Amino acid sequence: MKTYLSGIQPSGRQHLGNYFGAIRRHIALQEAEGEKFYFIADYHALTTVQDPDVLREMVLEMAVTYLALGLDPERVTLFRQSDIPEVCELTWLLSCVTGTGLLERAHSYKDKLAHGIRTSVGLFTYPILMASDILAYDSDLVPVGKDQKQHVEMAQDMAGYFNNTYGEVFVRPEPLIPEDELFAKVPGVDGQKMSKSYGNAIWIFEEGKPLQKIVGKLVTDSRPPEEPKDASELLPFRFLELFCDAAELADWRERLARGGADAPGYGHLKMRVKEAMDEHFHAARVRRRELLADRGEIERILARGAETARARAVATRDRALRACGLRPRSS
Ligand code: TYM
Repeated sequence: MKTYLSGIQPSGRQHLGNYFGAIRRHIALQEAEGEKFYFIADYHALTTVQDPDVLREMVLEMAVTYLALGLDPERVTLFRQSDIPEVCELTWLLSCVTGTGLLERAHSYKDKLAHGIRTSVGLFTYPILMASDILAYDSDLVPVGKDQKQHVEMAQDMAGYFNNTYGEVFVRPEPLIPEDELFAKVPGVDGQKMSKSYGNAIWIFEEGKPLQKIVGKLVTDSRPPEEPKDASELLPFRFLELFCDAAELADWRERLARGGADAPGYGHLKMRVKEAMDEHFHAARVRRRELLADRGEIERILARGAETARARAVATRDRALRACGLRPRSS
């Protein structure tokens, strides 16, 4: 039986990239055979969020997001990363077999540097904590967007370094990335990858005027509507591809390619993006408001999830301690 595991940082509201690259797939995997562990990466969020009230609120919002979109806590283990302190112990054990060169090659760290984002030791060693998350539950498959592929490969490397040094302790995980490039790397309103830290994201639950405003920011050029265009080069059309069916997309594509007096302009495309989002997320928005009214229930779900997840992590931690010559603690 396969074990699936994934995590999402609660640092910022969840956006369409998180949804199409990860959350939607995590929920769809409920139907698959195997065990599923999904967690809210609050330890990782400390690399960017340093206000305790904000962090607590973001963790809750993340849990509510999963549940509102259809995650069933009876079928998957949903938990908070920091409820499993064993991952911090594993992080130390893995740090001692991992060269600094591996971390220096991390794209996401280099991207953050290039964007002028303040870095810390925590941000630098972030992939080791992530490897511990993955390895602690003997995960076989890690469903993530393309930007996390390298981090999963680093977890493979770290498992290999440890196993080569101390014997077979960790299971080698494989990344599970959406096949369609658009879903694997959803663009932001500026056309770069949508990211919580780049200020180019569309929040899943945005609605009304604020949604209209952010969709209005989708970058276009100044060509007039009547000029024939290749739809796939237009950012608003790429967003329609996320939501609309093949027949509707073919119709837009044809009208854009034809051009002329009754061809759609960028404003039409953007209006349809907003409408499609309203249709797609309507039920989840309603459910989110209901869930936010009972915070105690969210806490209970997370506590139950932590209990299941921790039993697995303790066993792995003890296996790793024993292999290194340290004393396992639970036996
Ligand atoms: P995070 O919180 O940045 O992103 C959560 C998930 O969303 C995916 N994603 C995207 N997919 C497609 N297009 C985009 N524009 C886009 N932006 C984000 C990410 O690939 C990810 O799947 N380090 C992780 C959290 C983490 C984790 C783990 C994941 C911690 N430990 C262990 C898996 C396994 C992160 O910051 O994801």
